[in-house]
Amino acid sequence: PEIYAVVPAAGIGSRMQADRPKQYLSVAGKTILEHTLDTLISHPDIHHIVIAISDTDDYFSTLPVSQAKWLTVVSGGHDRASSVHNGLTALPAQSWALVHDAARPCLSHEDITRLLSVISSDTSSGGILASPVRDTMKRAVVSPGSDITVSHTECRENLWHALTPQLFNTGVLRHALEQGAAAGVTITDEASAMEAQGHQVRLIEGNPANIKITRPADLPLARFYLSEQSN
Ligand code: CTP
Ligand code: MG
Repeated sequence: PEIYAVVPAAGIGSRMQADRPKQYLSVAGKTILEHTLDTLISHPDIHHIVIAISDTDDYFSTLPVSQAKWLTVVSGGHDRASSVHNGLTALPAQSWALVHDAARPCLSHEDITRLLSVISSDTSSGGILASPVRDTMKRAVVSPGSDITVSHTECRENLWHALTPQLFNTGVLRHALEQGAAAGVTITDEASAMEAQGHQVRLIEGNPANIKITRPADLPLARFYLSEQSN
């Protein structure tokens, strides 16, 4: 089956507090979105990208990449999961969907290739890039006086940060997202919807440089990681 990239790019970037959605901010010569799309389409195993763009977005159509033949544009949804779901509906059920946040421009081809290796294993229904937690993790408890104190320290062993891309069979993922939405649970990544349906999700260690640009301080970090890549 073919491998398609699905790129949710319909967010408004409220935490970035910029004059436009963060995927349209320029870093190292082009917009964050263009970095992301260029990295995906230049990978030899990805032939087509489906991108979810907000109907009220005035920026996307001004980018040269918006005319690309390898790009299908769908409408974004009210949250990330529904934007991804809209993207999946444009694809054949029997394909692989590699879902990747528009806001992660520092993804490397090496990481994509490592994730794609889950396809050759028959023990799982897909997998995600992730990175082992390095900090000490505290479970907090909020007291009635609203002081926040430590309940206990979580064992850090076997705790991972979920990244994207996340790779699953298109039809199976679509069903899992629909079941999650019907159950009214908040789905923050594709894997959580798959886990809830009892699917095994493999963790593939990814480069922690693959950050999601969320706040203003992430921009200089992304600039640094992108400059390292081009060396
Ligand atoms: N996204 C989307 N549709 C939505 C919300 C988010 O396609 N309704 C996308 C964003 O464009 C981004 C990715 O999902 O590429 C990860 O979301 P996040 O980092 O939360 O981006 P925003 O929602 O734009 O930012 P914020 O939460 O700060 O408003
Ligand atoms: Mg968001």
